[in-house]
Amino acid sequence: MRLAGARVLVTGASSGIGAATALELSARGARLVLSGRDQEALAGVAARTGGEILPADLSDPSADLAVRAGRVDMLVACAGEGWSGPLARMPGGTAERVIAVNLAAHVQLTRLLLPGMLERGRGHLVYVASIAGVVGVREEAVYAATKAGLLAFAESLRYELPGVGVTAVVPGVVDTPFFARRGRPYTRRRPAPVPPERVARAIAVAVERDRAEVYVPAWLRLPARLHGAAPGAFRVLARRFGRP
Ligand SMILES: NC(=O)c1ccc[n+]([C@@H]2O[C@H](COP(=O)([O-])OP(=O)(O)OC[C@H]3O[C@@H](n4cnc5c(N)ncnc54)[C@H](OP(=O)(O)O)[C@@H]3O)[C@@H](O)[C@H]2O)c1
Repeated sequence: MRLAGARVLVTGASSGIGAATALELSARGARLVLSGRDQEALAGVAARTGGEILPADLSDPSADLAVRAGRVDMLVACAGEGWSGPLARMPGGTAERVIAVNLAAHVQLTRLLLPGMLERGRGHLVYVASIAGVVGVREEAVYAATKAGLLAFAESLRYELPGVGVTAVVPGVVDTPFFARRGRPYTRRRPAPVPPERVARAIAVAVERDRAEVYVPAWLRLPARLHGAAPGAFRVLARRFGRP
């Protein structure tokens, strides 16, 4: 899809990958609608992109983001929360919130934005998933499940949408406040976190070239392929090297 002139709704635009993506798309001529909860941070991104601010808490099913957004040519579904720890120790309500924000809100948003895109015969949907949704990660079961859900959602939608592109983004470790916010910082040396701007560039190129799937960094495809081809061997390696 041509980004110049496209009206793009970015969820999670107040921070990290979403903010970097808003800046990247704006540099390529897109008109931004920026959503998140932190209004001051959104105002900062709006000042640099000329974007419109649309605050919303996606854990609240009554957030009528799609209605307030009006015409949207492209959605970047980026808002997300993590939680790390043994499932048996997860506090009540946390799983519900992670599922609501990461998965359910973006399913509903897509459902409501799609009729306009189909009517205009033009649109693009981008879902920021995670390598956790492809291979699973110790002590991130609920988070990984939401990301696997997004990947299956994107993969399935692609079959039914003439004229509307669908891109699933699969980042590894990205240098954003995500880990601090989920309550367990990223302390491993490898894999080294990539800057959010790298994910943002990959998203812009994937949309322009109508790519179905993009891994950032690209080498992450290898563990994903190993997991698909030899899941037993993958699990042995993950048990050995995958401790947080
Ligand atoms: N960082 C990584 O290593 C990594 C790797 C793979 C995938 N991802 C995915 O990338 C996406 C962006 O994460 P990030 O790394 O950029 O983290 P981040 O800097 O913490 O950004 C998360 C964004 O999600 C928004 N958000 C969280 N809860 C929300 C809620 N209830 N309602 C509305 N917005 C909400 C935040 O908005 P407010 O700040 O305004 O609340 C913020 O803009 C997430 O979906 C994450 O799962 C991240």
